[in-house]
Order: sequence, then C-alpha cells, then structure tokens
Amino acid sequence: MSDDRIEVRGLTKTYEGGDPARPALDRVDLDVPRRHFVSLIGPSGCGKSTLLRVLAGLERPDAGRVAVFGSTPERMCAAKAVGLVPQTPALLPWLNVRRNVALPSRVNRRAGNAAGDPDELLSMVGLEDVARKYPHQLSGGMQQRVAIARAFGIRPDVLLMDEPFSALDEFTREALQLHLLRLWEHMSTTVVFVTHSVREAVTLSDEIVVMSARPGRVHEVLPVDLPRPRGSGVTADPRLHRVEDRVRASLQVAWESGAAPDDLVPL
Ligand SMILES: Nc1ncnc2c1ncn2[C@@H]1O[C@H](COP(=O)(O)OP(=O)(O)OP(=O)(O)O)[C@@H](O)[C@H]1O
Ligand SMILES: [Mg+2]
Repeated sequence: MSDDRIEVRGLTKTYEGGDPARPALDRVDLDVPRRHFVSLIGPSGCGKSTLLRVLAGLERPDAGRVAVFGSTPERMCAAKAVGLVPQTPALLPWLNVRRNVALPSRVNRRAGNAAGDPDELLSMVGLEDVARKYPHQLSGGMQQRVAIARAFGIRPDVLLMDEPFSALDEFTREALQLHLLRLWEHMSTTVVFVTHSVREAVTLSDEIVVMSARPGRVHEVLPVDLPRPRGSGVTADPRLHRVEDRVRASLQVAWESGAAPDDLVPL
C-alpha cells in the first residue's frame, strides 16, 4: 500500500438484488497519485457514482482492495480527510444556506483543522446574496453550488465530485471550473471528478479514466498533456482538441464493447 496515491485493485461491487453476472463494478483497477486531478467519464450506469461512494467509504466492495494514501476509505472519512459532492446536493433543509456551508467548517474547527470562511466560500460560487435563504427557496443549480462551497470548506485531502456542474448554465459552469482549478492548485487536494462532458474532463484533468458499462470496467486511462496553470484560454489550444478527439474515440469503443443489444430499449 502506497501513501502517495489512491489505489484500487480488483474492485467488484454488485448491489443487493442486482445480477451477479453483471456487477455495477467489475474488477476495477485504478491509480490516482496524490495531488492529481483525475476525471471519470463513461456511459450512464457504468458505475462512476458507485466508485466514488466506495472511495468515500459509503459503500463496501464485494471483492478487491481500496486504499486511500495507505489508509482505508472509512478511516479517511472519519478523519474528515475526504469531501464528497454527491450527484444530487444533500443539504440540510432546516439550515439556511450560510449555515449549510459553515457546517463542516465548524466540525473541522473542533478537530483543530483550518476551515474555510463560509462567506468567502459563498461569494466564490456567486451566492453571497442568498446566504439567509433555505435550500427549498433555491433552484437545483443553486443548491448544487451550495454543496460545492460546503465541500471546499472542508479543505479535504481528497475531493470526490460527482457531476458537480451538470445542472448549471454554461457560463456559471465555466466560471466554476476555473475556480475549482485555482482552488485545487492552491490547496494541493487530490480530485476524482465525474463528468459526462469531454470538454470539461480535458480542461480540468491530468488523466481521464474512460469506463465501459455493464459491467462497469476501466476501459482506458488517457493522459492530458496540456500545460498548467490552465485558464480560460486553454480551449484555444489545439492540443486540447486532439485530446478531446482521443477521449471521444475511446468512449465510442467503450460504448460499443459495453452495451449488449438487449440493453437497448426502443423509445
Ligand atoms: N443503491 C442501488 N441499488 C441497486 N442498484 C444500484 C444502486 N445504485 C446504483 N445501482 C446500479 O448500479 C449501476 C451503476 O450505477 P451508478 O449510479 O454507479 O452509475 P453512474 O455511472 O454513476 O451513472 P450516471 O452517469 O447515470 O450517474 C447501475 O446499473 C445502477 O442501476
Ligand atoms: Mg452517477
């Protein structure tokens, strides 16, 4: 076990009631070096969220081994070293926006860790004006931005983000991608990021893990050889387009090799 990487070896996971012949994850091997930014991309249902939940210590694998910097995911989670932005924002409905963001910071302060200032975090995601509103008074995209601000507030060693920007308009999405890159550079966090956007994966990542569905497997790991720091100008770099083409080609093969004809439901 290495203390400078997340190591996944032979990870297999079937949900209760699921078909054991088609596990959600099937013998997945993955390496995420410390301080790398790695994206997972692949067809819906290929196990991306399941993999994040295993890394967060929220699901147990049926077989295989998972180590986060030489420790177990459960221990990392208990030490508040892992932050998860889930696919649907899990905010506490009885706390206003500011208190939702401040919550992990308060827990962290008790644990003696440095914590992000909730007002600063809210202005980072452009929500300083709704600090006193409650989650039900916000749009889905705004709720997601609160969840993002909260995860940053933990200043975790590992940040797991499950399609965090998918409910946002393009302008906000691009702004938050740049914010995330600045924070990641600043905080030396290791990020595992799930997205369906090839452009987003290439803009942000050091490596892109292309997954195939049914059962979920790692199809290919593609390096992104674009210089850092990356700003808004990165989209004009011809190298970005070359990597995008490679990711799309890989996804195409992963898609064709993964889906059996009986999975295709006529609409
Ligand atoms: N709690 C659960 N109980 C039973 N089956 C589940 C559960 N969660 C996920 N699954 C199944 O496991 C498989 C992988 O699901 P998962 O949510 O990890 O996929 P995903 O890659 O994140 O998909 P998407 O891109 O749509 O978010 C799917 O077949 C899904 O139906
Ligand atoms: Mg998912």
